[in-house]
Amino acid sequence: MRISIFGAGFVGVTSAVVFSEWGHEVELVEVDAARREALERGNLPFYEPGLEEAWASTNIQAVTAPNDPELIFVCVGTPSADDGSADLSAIEAVASATARLRCPIIIKSTVPPGTTQAILGTRPSGMNPEFLREGAALQDARKPDRVVIGATNGEAREALHQLYSHLDCPIIDTDPTTAEMIKYASNTMLASRIAMVNELGNVCQSVGVNVDAVMQGVGLDWRIGPHFLQAGLGFGGSCFPKDVHALRALARQHAQDTTMMDATLRQNDLQPATAVDALREVHGDLTGARVAIFGLAFKADTSDIRESRAIPLWQALQAEGAEVICYDPMANEEFSRATGAQVVDLETALAADAAIVQTAWPEFARIPAERWPATVIDGRRCLDAQTLRMAGKKVIRTGDGSPA
Ligand code: UDX
Repeated sequence: MRISIFGAGFVGVTSAVVFSEWGHEVELVEVDAARREALERGNLPFYEPGLEEAWASTNIQAVTAPNDPELIFVCVGTPSADDGSADLSAIEAVASATARLRCPIIIKSTVPPGTTQAILGTRPSGMNPEFLREGAALQDARKPDRVVIGATNGEAREALHQLYSHLDCPIIDTDPTTAEMIKYASNTMLASRIAMVNELGNVCQSVGVNVDAVMQGVGLDWRIGPHFLQAGLGFGGSCFPKDVHALRALARQHAQDTTMMDATLRQNDLQPATAVDALREVHGDLTGARVAIFGLAFKADTSDIRESRAIPLWQALQAEGAEVICYDPMANEEFSRATGAQVVDLETALAADAAIVQTAWPEFARIPAERWPATVIDGRRCLDAQTLRMAGKKVIRTGDGSPA
């Protein structure tokens, strides 16, 4: 099939590469000239493991307008508007730019229930949500755990079945509004699960038990399952915070109570402060202390800092009067550009008075114990506390229940 994909973000580029690997003729339609030129040179506008190499082995062109496609995908951004609702202007722009084309047009971007029907309902169209995770984008897109097809008509449905029928996973046929709601409900449930695990982790820390051991026991209940039970400093990224806000805004428009979503967002706002409390407990007053944040990306294996918990952590430490320095293997530049924070190299970060580990980058676990600052707060429990303590460091791995 000749496929045109609008939007060269995570979802657009990854989908383009994977559809091309499946033997389709793919082009990426991108309005940003700098992004297009970078792609033409083989540079992706973000870091994603394996994606640049995979992109280089395709012949996908980055173009300004579609050339006679048989199927169109819309993968443009739907950022939060001021009231938390989803800003759909980029989707509307693609709808009008493609209005004269007769092929099916499919929305992959996360949009509120009713959007596909409202914007594209008179055309052969559909909604096909994307569930890929940053840091694992290629593997998730190549082998999804399910495909949701919400088509408005037979032509769109058939095109999507043709694209995905070789996959060994359940395919759900539904209407576009249900498909849209499946995506919001999935992200909101996952976000609330993390908020719950974090709250339980805080209690575990207080009563002196390890949240990971507790979650191992909890996750063996088949109704709960073992995944996504990692307590930490909260969730970030381009999806969870934005999608919970958008679903809450939609619920409020319909005069629905949003107690659970309110609590999820509030818990996530409060969680980074647990690392500051732990540091104060060990170090005392933080005024004038030089504190290094290790990990600025919202999670490991990405350079994405959107809604990273490093941002509120950085703010909270400054409010305590600390001199805050920041280090990330991939996201120093993005973080400094977005926040104006002082970013430093690894050596400088290790020379601080104290460290807070915010992102579970595997390379942090490989840093020899004696090189860490005197006090370490491991907000993701990715370091070996025993080795650090043997090297004379004071350590709290938040949630593991041990005192420093
Ligand atoms: C998420 C969804 O998982 C994906 O299906 C959707 O398409 C986009 O949003 P992503 O944001 O890339 O993907 O990353 P994910 O791995 O889900 O992590 C989101 C956040 O939750 C991160 O900040 C991560 O650190 C945090 N998290 C995740 C936890 O704190 N604990 C966990 O157990 C899992």
